[in-house]
Amino acid sequence: MKSEGTTLSENLPSALITIFGATGDLANRKLFPSIYHLYKKDRLNRKFAVVGTARRELSAEAFQNQVKASILEHVGPEEQLDEFISHFYYLPLDVSNVNEFSKLKTLIDQLDEHYQIGGNRIFYLAMAPQFFGTIGESIYQQNLKSQTGFNRLIIEKPFGHDFASAKELNDHIRQAFDEEEIYRIDHYLGKEMVQNIEVIRFANAIFEPLWNNRFISNIQVTSSETLGVEDRGRYYEGSGALRDMVQNHMLQMVALLAMEPPIRLNTNEIRSEKVKVLRALRPIAGEEIEKSFIRGQYDAGISKGNPVVAYREEDHVDPHSHTETFVAGKLMIDNFRWAGVPFYIRTGKRLTEKSTKIVIQFKDIPMNLYMKTEETLNPNLLVIHIQPEEGITLHLNAKKAGQFMDATPIKLNFSNKSTDGMNTPEAYEKLLFDCLRGDATNFAHWDEVALSWTYIDPIAKAWEETKEPSFPNYKAGSMGPAKADELLGKDGFHWWPVTDLDVENC
Ligand code: BG6
Repeated sequence: MKSEGTTLSENLPSALITIFGATGDLANRKLFPSIYHLYKKDRLNRKFAVVGTARRELSAEAFQNQVKASILEHVGPEEQLDEFISHFYYLPLDVSNVNEFSKLKTLIDQLDEHYQIGGNRIFYLAMAPQFFGTIGESIYQQNLKSQTGFNRLIIEKPFGHDFASAKELNDHIRQAFDEEEIYRIDHYLGKEMVQNIEVIRFANAIFEPLWNNRFISNIQVTSSETLGVEDRGRYYEGSGALRDMVQNHMLQMVALLAMEPPIRLNTNEIRSEKVKVLRALRPIAGEEIEKSFIRGQYDAGISKGNPVVAYREEDHVDPHSHTETFVAGKLMIDNFRWAGVPFYIRTGKRLTEKSTKIVIQFKDIPMNLYMKTEETLNPNLLVIHIQPEEGITLHLNAKKAGQFMDATPIKLNFSNKSTDGMNTPEAYEKLLFDCLRGDATNFAHWDEVALSWTYIDPIAKAWEETKEPSFPNYKAGSMGPAKADELLGKDGFHWWPVTDLDVENC
């Protein structure tokens, strides 16, 4: 039994969370279950309230029932639900009408007092980005920000469509919130094994000395999905895999893999090291685009044993669409540590496996003493399994048991048992918890967003201007277009197959 006054949650700040878009999919699938998990784990101060807003007319009771249904569906049968949902309130709100925000102010001021929250406010924008600017402005104009506690704004991607639109959006939001008050979600940064990258690197004496261009030949980051575009055709048509996955998640993983050790483990130091990596990315422009970046679009095929349609036949997708559902790219980081080491990234929908993996391939040893001349030793690999399984595998060579001095590949394996990591509530739970505590390390800073767009923009522009005649160019259920293999082949490398590297196969 915990003694009174010492529970974890009591040491955490109280907070009033306002969710814009509270009847939407994100709130239902991720936010309510995450807030509940925090509550259940005693990671949420009991002085809390959640105000849901959306256009729809809904009574507070009906809203509470929606929250309950979300938890029953995504968490399972739970006992303490009635007390939990009693903290949830609802207000119908047309976000495009600034005057309506005064009603919201009245409600949150009342709740603040009722729950003795002390003015700590989180505004969560779980809705389409075209409203971000207006909402920020209305929050400011109608004095929804408190004077007594903290004010934090959480926003979801997409954060702009390119650098110019991202900047415009940012300028808009910055009129109401300071950079330190803005928490830009990149849910990959909430994943356990993405957070583990820095620990694996900086807490092990055996890796960091080798973590450079003298010992690493290339790094491969793959995030493959089996799902197609599902019901998101309308959004995806204007986005494509480059903006949807590369600009944010893939570049964030590259930055974490390539950054210098920060002088301290705090938000500013870590972010500033990541920013340096993004600044050192060699810009890709002109003819280099075709040489370094490959795009793909899925055709009909077999996914997990079932026939599936081509991207162009999906709902809300143009039958002649040129949107890419696959990207493979070669990134070069022009700094002292990484000069000459390619970072290959690959992501796509309707691929063979749902898997996010990082493979660090070490350079070959200078001379192979243990095999016949025409054979080569397997290179040493460090594999970081991000999802669905979580763990690390080190691929080494050891003596083949028997009479002769032959070498054979072996694997040292560590596996974190995890549930299917598909955009899990756990990532959101961690990020919400960080935001409540004011830790912005695992959120994207504006400088990171700006640099990522600057890198991506010329590629996106070139792809918009020149269509890829071979689309659709990969079958659903495959690992993408052949050109993605050639990208590595010309450098003398190949993609390490994600399935062979599964922890279970080791
Ligand atoms: C999202 C993208 O950011 O990430 C989706 O918008 C994608 O298109 C998803 O499916 C992948 O996330 P995860 O966690 O399932 O790898």
